[in-house]
Amino acid sequence: MDPKTMWGAGDYPAVAELISDVGELCVERAGIGAGMDVLDVACGSGNATIPAARAGANVTGLDFQPDLLANARQRAQDEGIDVEWIEADAQQMPFDDQRFDRVISTFGHMFAPDHARTASEMRRVLRPDGRIVICCWTPEGSIGRMFLTIGTLVPPPPGGQMPLLWGTEAHVQKLLGPATFDRREVEWTHESVDSYADFFLSSFGPMLNAAEALGERSGELRKEFLAFLADENLADDGSLLFRGEYLVSVVDTPGAQSAQTSTPS
Ligand SMILES: C[S@@+](CC[C@H](N)C(=O)[O-])C[C@H]1O[C@@H](n2cnc3c(N)ncnc32)[C@H](O)[C@@H]1O
Repeated sequence: MDPKTMWGAGDYPAVAELISDVGELCVERAGIGAGMDVLDVACGSGNATIPAARAGANVTGLDFQPDLLANARQRAQDEGIDVEWIEADAQQMPFDDQRFDRVISTFGHMFAPDHARTASEMRRVLRPDGRIVICCWTPEGSIGRMFLTIGTLVPPPPGGQMPLLWGTEAHVQKLLGPATFDRREVEWTHESVDSYADFFLSSFGPMLNAAEALGERSGELRKEFLAFLADENLADDGSLLFRGEYLVSVVDTPGAQSAQTSTPS
């Protein structure tokens, strides 16, 4: 599948509900307030975009996947919230220089294949006293390891950089300069390992992509994923309890108020 088809496959908005708290946290860390111009890069179904607009900011949500943008637009309309939705690539954003006070992304910027270009675009559209806040899974956390497990069965397409690099302090500082960092965790539960595997294998585009690439061997993906979940499961009553670590990176441009760092949860 090409990347746009992959992100439109399954039911990403249902998966996004599992990480909706991260959107709220990102908005809080960005210090988003009324009247600010805010860009959410690779916004998907609006997990960070909608809370930013709720805070009274003038928000633009950018993503290259039209079906996810349509879902996000509907969610915002249902809440009576005004957001500008733009279909575009994070590596080539259709905005003037210094257009935004805040640039945010939750698990979106990480998937654009050219990291330096994406970072340079985030910088270019940010005002001199602005702030970037981005969230990415750490490679050593459970979700990072889940992506690495999928990668052992289906290697990522050639040319792109590893998305999880954005979950390391060194990579963020190399691309965006001095930053403050905070490691946090998402936690979610499901009826059982099997029910969660069924949900995730049928809803998450990268899983559907891996299954398609494996063809007749797609059963191996389910087997590998079940073994992985059984290993990661923190519950001992037959249900699933799963935690995933992510890195919150806060980059203040010179002149901006310095960012607060809080202790990891
Ligand atoms: C894991 S989802 C995250 C979505 C959302 N930010 C959230 O927190 O739920 C990854 C998103 O990145 C978008 N995406 C991937 N590569 C992109 C690119 N090069 N330009 C714009 N969007 C991209 C996908 O369409 C998808 O919506």
